[in-house]
Amino acid sequence: MITFEGVTKRYADGTVAVDDLSLEAPTGAITVFVGPSGCGKTTSLRMINRMIDATGGRILLDGQDVREIDPPTLRRGIGYVIQQAGLFPHRKIVDNVATVPYLLGWDRKRARARAMELLELVGLDSELAGRYPFQLSGGQQQRVGVARALAADPPVLLMDEPFSAVDPIVRASLQDELLRLQSDLQKTIVFVTHDIDEAIKLGDMVAVLRVGGRLAQMAGPATLLSEPADDFVREFLGRDRGIRRLSFIPAKDVRLVTAPADLVVDASGRPLGWRGDGGLLPYGTFNPERDSLRAALDAALLAANGTAVAVDEDGRVIGVAPREALDEVLGQYAARYTVPDPEDPYEEGGHQDTGHQGAGPEDPAHEDPAHGEDPHG
Ligand SMILES: Nc1ncnc2c1ncn2[C@@H]1O[C@H](COP(=O)(O)OP(=O)(O)OP(=O)(O)O)[C@@H](O)[C@H]1O
Ligand SMILES: [Mg+2]
Repeated sequence: MITFEGVTKRYADGTVAVDDLSLEAPTGAITVFVGPSGCGKTTSLRMINRMIDATGGRILLDGQDVREIDPPTLRRGIGYVIQQAGLFPHRKIVDNVATVPYLLGWDRKRARARAMELLELVGLDSELAGRYPFQLSGGQQQRVGVARALAADPPVLLMDEPFSAVDPIVRASLQDELLRLQSDLQKTIVFVTHDIDEAIKLGDMVAVLRVGGRLAQMAGPATLLSEPADDFVREFLGRDRGIRRLSFIPAKDVRLVTAPADLVVDASGRPLGWRGDGGLLPYGTFNPERDSLRAALDAALLAANGTAVAVDEDGRVIGVAPREALDEVLGQYAARYTVPDPEDPYEEGGHQDTGHQGAGPEDPAHEDPAHGEDPHG
């Protein structure tokens, strides 16, 4: 775990880049720092591996103050990935990846073998190993950057806008790749981005920073979308945050009905289309076991008749979700967050902290009416 305790960074010219930052980046999880340009993301990240030293507060790595660890030792356990990969242009890919093992004194053969293993891990063809960075695409270079950071198998990985320089499609595949890697490796990752979509996709926890290096909110992505702490966070999440929240609502509760005869399927039960006058009409599918409500709605919108087709792992039809069924689930979630917001917990001055539920059942005053009437009536 990485712990920021009241961390401040004031640069020599007086700029306060980070101001009294306190947060925890849990072990084995991805914590994303997100916020507008200049809000202190890079500064915060670099204080972890002491490329920059804090001027106030402290940063603990598994309970130990990083200032008590000498920088080379500290960095041995921390991989670092930056935008545009930062590869050494005059070194072959394999040697770029083996940089840290070489520094650690591994013999050349072992270091190169490790590099080849890592290139495969990040999805790169082994024949790229002998090329130079300029002979690779931007996305491939980023993958090499990730491989290099993982070379000595560090428990911690710091990533500063690693995917910002590539186009959206490549970026999406790099993000997927990182999530796949992370599900195997379970590193403690601190990931910096200014892209809220990337933050929400990758983050187990998301820290939203505002300019001046102050923490606006730290929460899991679903909570961030449903309960932004203030107007700054709300604005930063954007107007479509309601739609994006749907990605975090499982589709498994959507009520299914038997597929009507209008849905044409092949011999193995996979959908072919909705029967129309002139032939088959478009359909959309979702897998209730695996997909989100967003996928279910998407499936409904793709269909000619607004009915989403539910399929199993093999793509076989298991039923359909009529519009009302989707409405029911949407209604439940809409209600959950629109009901009580009697007090703003983030307001200055503070209220009695009774939590979002208001008075619980342990409060006798709220129990009285319900229990008091019956015996006498
Ligand atoms: N060496 C420095 N000396 C003085 N001020 C600095 C220095 N480095 C950064 N700053 C200032 O500190 C603030 C935070 O910078 P930082 O690079 O951490 O922001 P960032 O959130 O990473 O921004 P971006 O999204 O643009 O990368 C900015 O106002 C920046 O101008
Ligand atoms: Mg930065």
